[in-house]
Amino acid sequence: RLKYHLMGECGWINDPNGLIQYNGDYHAFFQYNPYDSEWGNIHWGHAISKDLIKWRHMPIALGPDSPYDQDGCFSGSAIEKDGKLFLVYTGNVFIGPDKKKDYKQTQCLAISEDGVVFHKYSKNPIIGSDLIPIGSSTSDFRDPRVFKKGDKYFIIIGTNDGHYRGQVLLYESGDMFEWKYKGVLAKGDELMGSNWECPDLFEIGNQDILIVSPENCNIVNGFENSNSSVYMTGKFKPDKSVFDIYDTHLIDCGFDFYAPQTFKDDKQRRIIMGWMHTWNIPTPTQTEKHNWAGAMTFPREIKFVDNKFLFNPVDEIKNYRCNRYYLSDAKINGEKVLESFGDCYELQVVINANDSAEFGLKLRTGFDEETVLSYKRDGRLFIFDREKSGSGPGGIRKTAIELIDNRLYLRILVDTCSVEVFVNNGEKVMTGLIFPSKESTGIKVFSKGICIIETLSKWDIKLDKTVV
Ligand code: FRU
Repeated sequence: RLKYHLMGECGWINDPNGLIQYNGDYHAFFQYNPYDSEWGNIHWGHAISKDLIKWRHMPIALGPDSPYDQDGCFSGSAIEKDGKLFLVYTGNVFIGPDKKKDYKQTQCLAISEDGVVFHKYSKNPIIGSDLIPIGSSTSDFRDPRVFKKGDKYFIIIGTNDGHYRGQVLLYESGDMFEWKYKGVLAKGDELMGSNWECPDLFEIGNQDILIVSPENCNIVNGFENSNSSVYMTGKFKPDKSVFDIYDTHLIDCGFDFYAPQTFKDDKQRRIIMGWMHTWNIPTPTQTEKHNWAGAMTFPREIKFVDNKFLFNPVDEIKNYRCNRYYLSDAKINGEKVLESFGDCYELQVVINANDSAEFGLKLRTGFDEETVLSYKRDGRLFIFDREKSGSGPGGIRKTAIELIDNRLYLRILVDTCSVEVFVNNGEKVMTGLIFPSKESTGIKVFSKGICIIETLSKWDIKLDKTVV
């Protein structure tokens, strides 16, 4: 199990839901099957935190116990209204034998006065199938994201046009209870997946951003995972009920990042967390019956700086750093084993590429095992290679990125079976699960030709270090 990432107490988890700061606490809900390490029986798990890192599990917030959600309380979001915490989620009901297509989905509401005990609204659903417009899927209709703009509430919902193109629908309300359909907010083409899940919409640095998680992505569009999550820059026009899309980017170029959600906290930070796993790729914790699967990514702050969107770990991680190891001005030609090791740490590295053709780090090394993070000058590619990472799934992911003054800046979070890499101050991020043996804790730096490790800091991350 991971040490500084949010997980379920046991069983299966997927998407983060209802991320919000309420009465001073950070709340994270998540898709949760407490009975098995496989998806099914979907509840809303719940945890709270003062600092986004140390989480306390709370009682399950929602269970599939009503006629409109009996086959799952699917993903959704949270908003505060009149001091109460409102959760908006999808009620899933199977209506035929084929669970892959015979289902009905409606949007439901649950309200809490204390942020712990939630009561489902007596008139659920608040957005039923009768509010699905013609030309939109009548089955895929889920993951309501609620937000307020001016004095109006909006909900956006993920769906498709019935012809394998993802789209997002917009709804409006004055009171959170009565909802009106407004229009198709945004729509993809045949390269952008057959269905859009988990939409999110927010503003950052005067830019409007729409996030969606397309299913069945087409590899020719730069997607290497069949489920990917993207952010689209553009303009939200509430009066016209549209979001004009300017351009589209992957949020994370690794293996395991899906269905993220964002929220703004009282420090005015826009924070994003994703599900750190993905569909249809089982992990050893499932096949070997460890009775759990899935975790959330480390919370990342999104910033818009010099026309770039940057994603970096929230600063609070610094409170949990200990046992610093430091290296500077090290000329590397070939391979060097660091005098430090571990399986739960943060690394911060500045590498001057000098004349090296390829250089990088090998993590969780041991007999026959290594996870390779490298930069290849030819092609200007950053590469995450987990082919020899251990017993979990393999694969290689690549992303194009330029060196900055011939330097590569890396920040890496390693936690037991996860690796999150923030490249060049968060310009690109790559996340992957790895399952090496316990003994594989080595760290190496390597270079083909000479490169210079200008600085390398490593800290163990220990949650019991500080009481928050
Ligand atoms: C995304 C998703 C959502 C759905 C939930 C079900 O991963 O498929 O669209 O609400 O998971 O658990």
